Amino acid sequence: MDDNRLKAMIVSQDCSMREVMEVIDKGATNTAFLIDTTSRLVGIVTDGDIRRAILKKISLNVSIRTIMNVEPVTLWQNYSKEEVYQMMIERHLLCLPVINKNKEILDFVYLPVLANNLRKKTNPKLEKKVKNVFLIGGAGYIGSVLVRALLSSGFKVTVYDVLLNGAGPLQGLEQDPNFNLVQGDTRNIDQVISAIQGIDAVIHLGEVVGDPACQLNPDFTIDVNYTATKKIAEACCHLGISRFLFASSCSVYGAGEGILSETSVLNPVSLYAQCKIEAERALLSLSDPWFCPTIFRLATVFGLSYRPRFDLVVNLMIATAIKTNKIKVIGGEQWRPFVHVRDISSIFIQALHMPIKKIKKQVFNLGYDKNNYQIFELAEIISRVIPGLTIERYDSADTRNYKVSFQKLYNTFLPREGIGIKEGVRELIEAFKQGFIQDYTARQYSNFHSLINEYSE
Ligand SMILES: NC(=O)c1ccc[n+]([C@@H]2O[C@H](COP(=O)([O-])OP(=O)(O)OC[C@H]3O[C@@H](n4cnc5c(N)ncnc54)[C@H](O)[C@@H]3O)[C@@H](O)[C@H]2O)c1
Repeated sequence: MDDNRLKAMIVSQDCSMREVMEVIDKGATNTAFLIDTTSRLVGIVTDGDIRRAILKKISLNVSIRTIMNVEPVTLWQNYSKEEVYQMMIERHLLCLPVINKNKEILDFVYLPVLANNLRKKTNPKLEKKVKNVFLIGGAGYIGSVLVRALLSSGFKVTVYDVLLNGAGPLQGLEQDPNFNLVQGDTRNIDQVISAIQGIDAVIHLGEVVGDPACQLNPDFTIDVNYTATKKIAEACCHLGISRFLFASSCSVYGAGEGILSETSVLNPVSLYAQCKIEAERALLSLSDPWFCPTIFRLATVFGLSYRPRFDLVVNLMIATAIKTNKIKVIGGEQWRPFVHVRDISSIFIQALHMPIKKIKKQVFNLGYDKNNYQIFELAEIISRVIPGLTIERYDSADTRNYKVSFQKLYNTFLPREGIGIKEGVRELIEAFKQGFIQDYTARQYSNFHSLINEYSE
């Protein structure tokens, strides 16, 4: 038993909700045990109880008795670890007190620790064939393409997404018996845990995406892009979900020099990139024989999707070229790698089929050597497909510069030939022609503008 951790979780029932919240915040179990003046357990409060109370606009100054669970599940000494584990999983309980007949608290059981202790007694069964995939962020730019590719490949897919841009990108999938949508926020770990039951593999794309969107509210960004990601990985650890594919970004290389590989020095210049680095580290540090994360550092994506984005350099240049006959090049000398949105699906699907030992605890840059360009070159390529364009150049304060090697990816996966920028141009021309995109400056095509809208509502 860890005496200090237990003591830190025990609070008087005379405390206010705010005081208990501070205790929960300092601990690692999301739980506080409430006692009376004779040290008898009288209730339990979790961070979920406090969150619900805040949502109901209950003042933080009220006594904790107002919201505490006065009939908590408790354990006696000599409990069976296996039975308690099953019961906690089934009833979604994260932390339980162990008491004696006088209701004094002797110890506590925290699900991740219990699961770890039990796992150590068993051999990992890692090579289970993946059938059920949990796709976080499946309604986004990459996710809405990937979900269709997964369904076409025979997987059952649960999309878990807060739907920042609505459910439109998933339209038409409702009738597919292999498709399931759960609208939820990754920060709501209780909801994630209940939605993730029966899942074989997780693909995590659901974060605040892009430098400008992340800067809007740094605390919110850290909560989503680091804390929630780490908590979901911990949940996977104790639920025995070993295959976890995480979408990181080549922007972790930031202001880089030379050709950058997975072992190059990281030099992030934005909160977005810094959060990716911290999340990568958290996932890799959780790796053990039962939890096998794989990190993909994606190049900047381009191409048509069911949730198009025009806040990405290639797509934006193409759209302005089509609509205004002009391309603005900001800076121009910076190197950047690019990858078509459909090429990402192909790699993620291979990663679901691949023997886990080949990819566990590995970081892969995801893109194509041939798609490394300096920004001004993009404008030149686009102008070869759309003749008569005016190219305007402006100074830039953007210090990001990274030319990336994808050799490690080629050595492990069978990448397709890789869709080039020209093909991306042609498909966007067709999408505009068909009327699939009306106004490329509309807020739903930009993460920054969608999020501003979210905050203001
Ligand atoms: N698009 C790129 O160029 C690029 C490059 C490198 C890495 N990535 C990474 O790939 C992933 C997907 O990017 P994208 O371009 O599809 O972005 P996107 O913004 O189009 O999609 C993100 C999706 O996640 C959902 N989401 C956001 N916060 C959530 C939360 N708290 N809970 C649940 N769902 C949430 C959104 O509703 C959205 O559907 C991200 O992790 C991103 O960092 C993208």
